[in-house]
Amino acid sequence: MENVHVSMPRIGDHAPEFKAVTTQGDINFPSDYSGSWVILFSHPADFTPVCTSEFMTFASMEDQFAQANCKLVGLSVDGLYSHIAWLRTIKEKIEYKGMKDVEVKFPLIEDITMEVANKYGMMQPGESSTKAVRAVFVIDPKGIIRTVIYYPLSLGRNFDELYRVVLALQTADAFSVATPADWRPGDAVIVPPAGSCGTAKDRMEGKDDMKCYDWFFCTKEISKEKVLSTILKK
Ligand code: BEZ
Repeated sequence: MENVHVSMPRIGDHAPEFKAVTTQGDINFPSDYSGSWVILFSHPADFTPVCTSEFMTFASMEDQFAQANCKLVGLSVDGLYSHIAWLRTIKEKIEYKGMKDVEVKFPLIEDITMEVANKYGMMQPGESSTKAVRAVFVIDPKGIIRTVIYYPLSLGRNFDELYRVVLALQTADAFSVATPADWRPGDAVIVPPAGSCGTAKDRMEGKDDMKCYDWFFCTKEISKEKVLSTILKK
């Protein structure tokens, strides 16, 4: 274990840089993704059932993420030939929940040295010392980490939630707002605190289309059409 660089990148950090071999050729991360959102995610192992269900689901949603200018990049500590064989098996043999003939077109990184997994805190020895946990890094077009989520080996991710995270981050950036619990496009958004957006009196009187529950908690409506036409590609 010489020169093993283990780190836990945090929200607001620059995404750690690396070069890697993937099922779609070599990549230089994150510079190859400059100008796009990207989800870098790890899975424990090829040819395992939870990971297979996840890959089929994520691959089926790739166009939906692309419309939100968001690319996908997977990683496990398996080798390239294992990745290729597993993805071919998924395409040729697996039919699951109405998904079949699923082609995984996004890159899957081989990381047999665990270099990238260690850089991104994907190896969590309390869970497994030989497999990466299910990590998710949502990285913005400037290469800044905006969301980090870790799941244990046994728990498949909710990809609708990951899509919601991307849309919520983009909405927060585009409209200078925050998004409340369970927000989805079309739901009211949270306006910034008093001082940055109207006085406390204005806010309590409901000016500027705001609805205030108290001086510190105000929302305003932004239609689903406005949100989606602003953040999704035409
Ligand atoms: C799975 O993807 O099914 C899995 C992988 C590693 C450990 C447990 C489950």
